[in-house]
Amino acid sequence: MLSVVQLLMVLAWQLPLIAAVDSDELSQLGTRYGTDKVGHHFTREYHSRFKDARTSVRRFLEVGVFKGASLQMWKEYFPEADIVGLDYFRNQLKVLKRVPNLARDLWYDQRNGRNFAAEVCSGHYGPRMHVIDANQSDMAEMKTVVQTLSQGRAFDVIIEDGSHTMRDQQLNLALLLPLVKPGGIYVIEDLHTSFQNGYDEPRGSEATTYNVLQAFNASSKFRSKFLDANQAAYLERWIASTEIVSIVRKERHSMGFIRKMDFSAPGATKLQHTVTPAAPRRRLSGNNNNNNIYPTKKDARPSPIMVKRRWNSTARLGAGRWC
Ligand SMILES: C[S@@+](CC[C@H](N)C(=O)[O-])C[C@H]1O[C@@H](n2cnc3c(N)ncnc32)[C@H](O)[C@@H]1O
Repeated sequence: MLSVVQLLMVLAWQLPLIAAVDSDELSQLGTRYGTDKVGHHFTREYHSRFKDARTSVRRFLEVGVFKGASLQMWKEYFPEADIVGLDYFRNQLKVLKRVPNLARDLWYDQRNGRNFAAEVCSGHYGPRMHVIDANQSDMAEMKTVVQTLSQGRAFDVIIEDGSHTMRDQQLNLALLLPLVKPGGIYVIEDLHTSFQNGYDEPRGSEATTYNVLQAFNASSKFRSKFLDANQAAYLERWIASTEIVSIVRKERHSMGFIRKMDFSAPGATKLQHTVTPAAPRRRLSGNNNNNNIYPTKKDARPSPIMVKRRWNSTARLGAGRWC
């Protein structure tokens, strides 16, 4: 039994997260499609950075698709962009096993004939939506993926929201940053796993991604036990700035915004690296957004999750395949 004091402490820990409801356009889209980026308050951070670039983003990649909620959100948010989602689709249920809620959700959907990758391949989401089947922990496979993706235009934005292990976060950054256009953005979501048990490095150790980025901020040296010297040198040359953003607490909701250097920009110089401390607690509820894109219930389309349709659940994918 929790004592009253313990109960109050738990409430104090949770309250800022429970009470906060972001009302910017991206958070509204995210709520509509059901991505957990809203609950983490990542959507409001994205919106504050991307709101003026929505129509100039032309190619976008997210590693970690789950059931496609965020990809659908991004497709609507960036109306001119080709949206590419990478996941270990052929083994998705297995990799999600250690996150029981996610596994249950995915299993339930698949049992009911819903399979996001198959839907994308069937053209259900239109020509701007693509998926690629790859294991982000398998560097040989990822190198093939990089070759495939480097045939198109450079990415304006890459978001890594996959396994959240330290090795994958750091190696994927080194492998995928070359695909980002000069001046583009690479984001590592859920940096707070650096402070959690159950990942591949002891929490808070110097090998964790949070600490590697923070050490890079201080020294401009990218010291990662997962990277070889060439990879580290590439990052040191090409990372223009890193910003670690924490919401409420760094152990709860943190993400890293990494901007790629653009040497052709007039007076290009390396920018400051920053750590944005956890925001002060504040209630975010209430609509302060004059540009509400879904002003009334009537205008909101039904969630695609509600659309009952039976898809051929054998997605036309496989190692490194995409459509
Ligand atoms: C948190 S979910 C992504 C949520 C999604 N970005 C959203 O916001 O709606 C993490 C995803 O990473 C994928 N994942 C985990 N390990 C992976 C791996 N080794 N390779 C590729 N994807 C992986 C899982 O299958 C899962 O779909």
